[in-house]
Amino acid sequence: MIYLYPMKVCIINGPNLNLLGRREPEIYGNQDFESFYKLLQLEFSTLDLEYFQSNVEGEIVTKLQEFGNRADGIVLNAAAYTHTSIAIADAVAAIQVPTIEVHISNLLSRENFRHQSLIGPYCKGSIMGFGLNGYRLALHSFIR
Ligand code: DQA
Repeated sequence: MIYLYPMKVCIINGPNLNLLGRREPEIYGNQDFESFYKLLQLEFSTLDLEYFQSNVEGEIVTKLQEFGNRADGIVLNAAAYTHTSIAIADAVAAIQVPTIEVHISNLLSRENFRHQSLIGPYCKGSIMGFGLNGYRLALHSFIR
């Protein structure tokens, strides 16, 4: 008999995403991530979800290394570190687990400095511009 464990998918959010709902709602919407995450847990009950948020670059690197050893997939919104962090890009490149980059806003329609993602080249794919729904799209891609 084959027993299938639920696929473990970890969501990692970077700096200032703890302020979702209050932060620039015209760009990022009115919903806070904690209540959205509760909906995701209900909607994606066949996945074993875990969520981590940090405003600290090194903590995100450490979490990627940890999840890289025990997750089947990672959904990463590195927020502003997307555009600056070689350390986070290296961490994504170092792990075998497929990582999907998510951005709530459409980076390409915003300031020039947001057009480049240092992390994107090491990700399986990138989703941007669909609001919080982008996380749903990323999770769907992990369903067997
Ligand atoms: C963001 C876009 C980044 O440029 C910005 O720094 C963020 C959020 C997004 O989800 O749209 O903090 O990653």
